[in-house]
Amino acid sequence: MADWNSAERERLLRQYAEIATLAGGLAHEVRNPLSTIQMNLELMAEDLEAATDPHLGRIRRKLETMRRECHRLESILNAFLQFARAGEMQRTTTSLNRIVTEFLEFYRPEAQSSGIDVSPHLATDLPLVSVDETLIRQVLANLFRNAQQAMPDGGQIDVQTSAHNERVTLCVIDTGKGMDERARKKAFEPFFSTKSNGSGLGLPTVRKIIEAHGGTIYCESEPSRGTKFTIELPASSIEPPGPEQERVD
Ligand SMILES: Nc1ncnc2c1ncn2[C@@H]1O[C@H](COP(=O)(O)OP(=O)(O)OP(=O)(O)O)[C@@H](O)[C@H]1O
Ligand SMILES: [Mg+2]
Repeated sequence: MADWNSAERERLLRQYAEIATLAGGLAHEVRNPLSTIQMNLELMAEDLEAATDPHLGRIRRKLETMRRECHRLESILNAFLQFARAGEMQRTTTSLNRIVTEFLEFYRPEAQSSGIDVSPHLATDLPLVSVDETLIRQVLANLFRNAQQAMPDGGQIDVQTSAHNERVTLCVIDTGKGMDERARKKAFEPFFSTKSNGSGLGLPTVRKIIEAHGGTIYCESEPSRGTKFTIELPASSIEPPGPEQERVD
């Protein structure tokens, strides 16, 4: 029975890999003709820019709609390809605090212009983690984008790191509009979105990345109060450098 189970599991895994490759390949194939269509729509719009004929004006507006929809399709394809690639990793043993700090430096100007106050609470002596830095930045970018979109009139994002039982924890907490029970339960499902222009692949990608690192993610949320995402990653067995080694002269 155990053999049958493992053979069946193997077959399903093979089938899953095949479907994932097909879907990724399809997304790639669609992207090329799509960019040709986009380029031609842009050229047509340029040709019609100076037109004063009302009939041509209507065509120009239709072209604008088509360009917007192409752009939307492109974003969906990009989100899909990011999701498909989320399991491919190049890990290094590194400091999560440093990744968070560098991300915040990059994000701060955008936060400021959106009226968002970011406050980091990063634990000292945090154990190192073995992660793909680009993917962890992608996780932060997705969580911060969601938080920002949940606070259209500004608010606060708290980022916390801590360590417990050989696990490193990262929390991202916002004071945004929160989620009702249904949205919270469905938030990690592929293609679930409450936004008019959302792909619904942001959080599934985040979860896939975290799980590929042997970690977990969960979410607590309350309508009108805010949302908290908690990520746990295994700590690396390599010790973080002491103050002597960390000092940059
Ligand atoms: N911080 C948050 N506050 C409130 N709701 C959230 C938050 N993060 C996620 N959600 C809810 O979860 C849904 C799914 O999020 P996800 O990031 O997967 O997709 P999306 O943001 O809708 O689309 P995309 O990420 O492609 O822009 C969102 O549409 C929103 O309803
Ligand atoms: Mg999102």
